[in-house]
Amino acid sequence: MTAATPVLSVEGLRKYFPIRRGVLRRVVGHVKAVDDVSFSIARGETLSLVGESGCGKTTTSRCILRAVQPSAGSIRFLAAEGRPVDVASLPRAELRPVRRQMQMIFQDPYSSLNPRMTISDIIGEPLLVNGMGDLESRRKRVAELLDVVQLPRAYMNRFPHAFSGGQRQRIGIARALALNPALIVADEPVSALDVSVQAQIINLMLELQQRLGLSYLFVAHDLSVVKHVSHRVAVMYVGRIVEVADTRTIFAKPRHPYTEALLSAVPVPDPRKRASRIVLEGEVADPSNVPAGCAFHPRCPYATDRCRSERPELRDAGGGNLVACHRADELALRGVAA
Ligand SMILES: Nc1ncnc2c1ncn2[C@@H]1O[C@H](COP(=O)(O)OP(=O)(O)OP(=O)(O)O)[C@@H](O)[C@H]1O
Ligand code: SF4
Ligand SMILES: [Mg+2]
Repeated sequence: MTAATPVLSVEGLRKYFPIRRGVLRRVVGHVKAVDDVSFSIARGETLSLVGESGCGKTTTSRCILRAVQPSAGSIRFLAAEGRPVDVASLPRAELRPVRRQMQMIFQDPYSSLNPRMTISDIIGEPLLVNGMGDLESRRKRVAELLDVVQLPRAYMNRFPHAFSGGQRQRIGIARALALNPALIVADEPVSALDVSVQAQIINLMLELQQRLGLSYLFVAHDLSVVKHVSHRVAVMYVGRIVEVADTRTIFAKPRHPYTEALLSAVPVPDPRKRASRIVLEGEVADPSNVPAGCAFHPRCPYATDRCRSERPELRDAGGGNLVACHRADELALRGVAA
């Protein structure tokens, strides 16, 4: 496997949730939570998925782990045996060995750990469930995992309530690593933590990536968090990807007006270098009633008549960017100084 071989390759992913009304629970419409999303992640790469609340980030993550059944599309995952499998269509019985190799880190380290289980049981549970090792070898593995996430082994017999948010997130990471996964889906892993602790967890994730060759799908609602973790960034708006580029490029030279607006909210160290914040008018569009044309047009300061009627496709915009905007070539958008 070369560095460029995608560990994960998502194509045309859709997840429509039916909206049911009346006594007969008739389907009267659909929430198009994820609507034709495609991307890939290479071995050792971090792709960040960014966008406002409700744009479909968590639903995309849950589809990848088959926690929800996708409505359409393929999710090709390169399993450790070197055999690509389509997670979207794999029979349930064949999912378990694949699921071991894709793990999730959750946003809320307070509610994602069972308060009645010891740290040893929490971290060792994936091993137990998959019938791996005896009690002694599992405890040995838990001890190693505590070393990996830089927590004292002496914590093994304690319960989650004894720990801070950052320590709990380390426990969550240790648990995710128990089965040696290739891909970790981290859904807002630091959003619930204090800013000082966020940096520690992000540094730990970077170190683990280097050491273990992990690939990350890193979900965040704002761009400032993703700057230091991602190799590439994909920006989502109402169920669709509107821009993808490598991190440096997307920060310096965004090509989509929505990315520009998200970037204008990113704090910069020198306030004099700060471009004025773009305040987006109106609410995020409703995924059960997506505006015609470009879904962003009701909020876009650059919208024209064409934007109101014709949907822009995600296309190659040069310089490594993919962008879905009719005006991408003519607009000079503002990024943020590095
Ligand atoms: N089980 C469900 N049934 C119906 N609608 C759902 C379901 N799960 C999610 N949705 C809807 O799908 C859309 C996308 O939700 P999702 O949770 O994926 O967004 P998100 O980008 O993760 O948002 P946030 O930043 O708030 O976590 C939302 O409109 C949400 O209400
Ligand atoms: S297609 Fe039009 S409305 Fe959509 S982002 Fe581009 S300029 Fe704005
Ligand atoms: Mg979410």
